Order: sequence, then C-alpha cells, then structure tokens
Amino acid sequence: MNIGRKYRTPQGAEGDVNSSPHRSNWQDQHLNNQARVILSKDQQYFLHQSVSTPCLNTIKKAEGIWIEDHSGKRYMDFHGNNVHHIGYGHPRLVEAINQQMRTLSFAPRRYACDVAAELAEKLAQISPGNLSKLLFTTGGSDAIEVALKMARSVTGRFKTISFWDSFHGAGFGASSIGGEEMFRGGPAGPLLTGTEHVPPFGDYRNAWGVREGSADLCARQIRYVLEKEGDVSAVIAEPSRAVPYIAPAGFWQQVREACDEFGALLIFDEIPTGLGKTGKLFACDHDGVVPDMLVMGKGLGGGILPIATVICNPELNVAGDYAYGHYTHEKNPVTARAALTTIEIIEAEGLVENAAQIGEYALQRLHELMQKHPLIGDVRGRGFLFGAELVTDRDSREPACDAADRVLYRALDKGLSFKTTMGNVLTFTPALITSKVDMDFAINVIDESLGEVEKELRY
Ligand SMILES: Cc1ncc(COP(=O)(O)O)c(C=O)c1O
Repeated sequence: MNIGRKYRTPQGAEGDVNSSPHRSNWQDQHLNNQARVILSKDQQYFLHQSVSTPCLNTIKKAEGIWIEDHSGKRYMDFHGNNVHHIGYGHPRLVEAINQQMRTLSFAPRRYACDVAAELAEKLAQISPGNLSKLLFTTGGSDAIEVALKMARSVTGRFKTISFWDSFHGAGFGASSIGGEEMFRGGPAGPLLTGTEHVPPFGDYRNAWGVREGSADLCARQIRYVLEKEGDVSAVIAEPSRAVPYIAPAGFWQQVREACDEFGALLIFDEIPTGLGKTGKLFACDHDGVVPDMLVMGKGLGGGILPIATVICNPELNVAGDYAYGHYTHEKNPVTARAALTTIEIIEAEGLVENAAQIGEYALQRLHELMQKHPLIGDVRGRGFLFGAELVTDRDSREPACDAADRVLYRALDKGLSFKTTMGNVLTFTPALITSKVDMDFAINVIDESLGEVEKELRY
C-alpha cells in the first residue's frame, strides 16, 4: 500500500489550523494534567484531520453561551459550530428530548411518525415562498448530497456552479462543489465532474482585484457560465458567505433571473445561517429571493442532536421511484422532536429579533474599534454572522494571518472563543440568545486582545 505519497499542504484554511506555534504556546500555559490525558488519548485514537484533531483543548461543560474546560475556565462561545442558536443544553429542549425518548424513540423506515410529520409541516410553514417538500438527513453534508441528486433528477443535467472558497460539507458531492483546497485537494480525488466554480463576490478582497462592484461581476460570470455551458443543473451557494460577506441588494435577484433563463435550479445552503443567524429566519429573506431548494442543518437540532433537511419547491417531487433520502435516521422521532422544539424556542424567545438587534449593535461597536485599531482593515456582517478582517496595512490589504492567530489566543486567555476564517478574518457567530451585556464583554475582549497584539507587533 502506498501510504507515503506527499501532497502539498492546503492553503487558505477554512478555520484556525491545529498546527500554529501560538496554539502550542497557549496549550503549554493553559492545559492541566486532566486535559493533557484526554487530549493525548484523543490524538492517539482519532485519525488526524486539519482544523479538527489534534484538538486545542478539552470541554467539560457546555451551557447557554458558555463552554468550560477541565481546568474550570469558561469561554463565551462565539463559534459554536453554528449549532448553538438556542444556547447549549436549553432546559426546555432537554426535557422535550427526554419525554420523546420515553414515548417513541425510533421509527423504522416505512413507518410514519407524528412528530416527524409535524416537523415537516412546521418547516413548510416557515420556509421561504412555497418550499414545502422535504427530506431529513443526519448532517448537512448529506442533505447537500440529496440536493445535488434531486437537481440532477429534476433537470436531467449534472453540472453545477458554486463558489471558490466555499464550504458545503465533507461528502464527495459536497466537497466537489466546495471551493476550499483542504476539503477538495490531495489524495481523495478525483471529485465529481461538471462542478464548475466561479470566484465569489466580496468587495474587500476578490479575484477581479476591484474595490467595488464585485457582486455585479460575480453575477455576470455566473450568467456567462450558465449560458456557455447551457446545461447546468443548479447554482448552489450560501446566500451570505461565511467569510463573512453579505451579498449586496439585487445580487441574488440577478442570479435567480439567470438561473430561470437558462433552466438551472437555485439551491441555497443555509446550513449555518438558517433559523435566524443573520437576523431574519433565513439569510435569503433579506433579499426576497426564493430558491428552488434550501438546505438547513446545524442549529436545527438545537445544539444537541444532529438533523438536517433539504426543503424544495413541491414541483421538484419527481424522484419517487428512487431512494435519495434513504437514511436510517430519516424520520427519527427524537431528532425530529429536537428540531421542532428548537424552532418553537426560537419563536417563543424572539431569538431572530435578538440576533438582528444585538448584531447591529455589535457591528457598530466593531466599526468603532476600527477607528482605534490599525490591524482592522474591514468590518462586515449581518445579525450574528459578523467579523473583522485583519491586515498588516490598510492600503495593500496584506492579510495579517499571524496577528489574527495571536488575537485568537489572547481572546481565549480572556474567555472568548471564536474562529478565524481564511487565516486573517476574526469570525463571530454567537448563539442567538447572546445579550447586549454578553456582547459588550466579547467586544471588550476583542478590543483588548487587538491592543495587546498591536503593541507586541509594534503597529
Ligand atoms: C455552509 C455549510 N454547508 C455545509 C456544511 C456541512 O454540514 P455538516 O457538518 O453538518 O455535514 C457546513 C458545516 O460547517 C457549512 O458551514
């Protein structure tokens, strides 16, 4: 077996990588014996994976917006893998799951169960436009695979258009349409054929080298590829990019029109953004554009159980003789109960409105920090998906990856956990229950951490 082949190290990490010197220093200073024992076992038995294993630290408790490690140190979690919309371990959800386990804990295939049907009905009610026919899977990546198969079935075409630098999951289909080398490249190929990519919009940094108007160029490029290929099944993208970049008004309308003109479907991946992250129930609600399919996951399981879904225009119900959604836990009553209760909690606690309001406040505070910190080159986002891009120089916009890594570990010292994206973007995706007081704590930590790193690096 040839297991010694070398491939180039992937560039442009999706998150903070697990190999930086700042990480090792931080671990040397913070980990206690118990944590070291757990980490060592974890590292011994799990296959090593970038941005995953070896891990940074251990976790003993997750409650509300906080996680706690084995030394008792607490971190406000401004990452949460985008699963913790309602906060970790929400008591109402825990109770509902327990109750469901006592009532009906599994539904073998071929048996409909009330709670799965109720969840389907609820999702049809809250989803944009007429999206109302769906399938459940256990993870977002699987739901993307279903969406791709459905798009092929409906259109009789196999090609797709998606964005470079995007992430849609780890499956073969998902990583083929994804645009990050870490998930596409190396020894696992070849990937699916016909997965065309275009450079994504984003005025601060883009493939065209423009400082404004990138979304228009991007929409034109999508249209151009749709026209030239002539047989694209679907355009698939996150309506708000994770980096984070928000599409300017009109962009998705342009793409929708081009899809309609050339007979392609529009699929929105709202796995991280769905259910309120951006201050509306769905990120595409900001644009008033209804896709043909919308994929949700992550927060749908309330941060406790894994469940995802692809919800479609009912006209796409054309593959009844096949079994694209044939997952063992397809209609699991316990995961369905978790999702249903999660949506009820989001509605009852006004969490979408909270994300809109406090998110706006956070963005304003980050803009104020930009006046004071030369490291910040750009601030952007919407609701509880926002971030600050760090640069060594505001004119050249050279990414300040080392500084971003330092800021991350300084912030962890002070009790704030988040993720860096593309190496230099401090990316914040707090739980939707985050209050103004919590937000002030977090922004103060970012302020102090930036100040310390600027001093250290003599900015
Ligand atoms: C935009 C997007 N799509 C798809 C996925 C994959 O979801 P899962 O990890 O549940 O398979 C993710 C996960 O991070 C994501 O952020």
